[in-house]
Amino acid sequence: MQGERRQWHDETVSIAFVSTSWAIELDPDLPLLLDAAGRRGIDAEITVWDDPAVDWSAYDAVVVRSCWDYFTRREEFLAWAASVPRLHNSHEVLAWNTDKVYLRQIEAAGVPIIETRWDVAPGDDLGDHTEWVVKPTISAGSRDTARWGSPDDVYAHSAELVAAGRTSMTQPYISSVDDEGETAMLFLGGEFSHAIRKGQLLHRGEGVRQDRDSRESIDPRTPSDAQLEVSTAALAAARDILGFTEPLLYARVDLVTADDGAPVLIELELAEPSLFLPQSGGGADRLLDAIAARI
Ligand SMILES: Nc1ncnc2c1ncn2[C@@H]1O[C@H](COP(=O)(O)OP(=O)(O)O)[C@@H](O)[C@H]1O
Ligand SMILES: [Mg+2]
Repeated sequence: MQGERRQWHDETVSIAFVSTSWAIELDPDLPLLLDAAGRRGIDAEITVWDDPAVDWSAYDAVVVRSCWDYFTRREEFLAWAASVPRLHNSHEVLAWNTDKVYLRQIEAAGVPIIETRWDVAPGDDLGDHTEWVVKPTISAGSRDTARWGSPDDVYAHSAELVAAGRTSMTQPYISSVDDEGETAMLFLGGEFSHAIRKGQLLHRGEGVRQDRDSRESIDPRTPSDAQLEVSTAALAAARDILGFTEPLLYARVDLVTADDGAPVLIELELAEPSLFLPQSGGGADRLLDAIAARI
């Protein structure tokens, strides 16, 4: 197919990797993707999603990467996504996945998620826990997210988010994150590619901080069978919910370990996940092959 298309148009295949102007320098995956494209004779460019000068229809594939400002401009971002042909992941996926309310559907499909209460109001039951996390459903990079040791702080933070018109999530603080961290499972072209460990981000007593570097402390990790099983189930559930038969071009499944030792989903990142390609052992090549197979 690819050969036919190339001959028909008598031109090389071209791909746009999409970022945000301030994120280009911060995304370590981008240079590896450009190199992998170059090795295949594919023209690849880094573009910025809100650049009005870009002709998105000129590319054989437009691949969303580090559009990390989407959550402050979600409507605008999704309108852009709806207007772009040959976008990966698709507009439907981006719209569904950029609001963590999707976790309710994933849970209903039988995939274990962190116990979550939505829009907690003062006096609501918080479960038998000593520490909690409060976060908005639309966010990234742990912004507006905090770890609290007192119910009063939980109620106040949740009320603040709700008053701002947002949906709040309240969860027990999963204590294994302090030592074991979080496990990000990367799937490229529908196949498991690699996993990494991400260190703890939320510290006791720090309150709501906006300036965390959510990419710090990344190491390769070998996943357990249970982690592979839960992440595969989470992706299958997402595909069922969205009615897709094809696997997604890229997906990241973030897991933590519950008190009973079982992996549970913290989030499914199908929009603009860091893919941790420098820690992937050839992940950029696997992604380029998967893109080429879809052109
Ligand atoms: N229930 C929780 N227990 C422990 N740590 C948490 C919990 N929820 C979030 N965190 C920490 O906060 C970070 C950001 O939360 P997350 O749900 O992944 O949202 P996002 O990455 O979209 O900001 C996580 O990477 C993790 O370090
Ligand atoms: Mg996260």
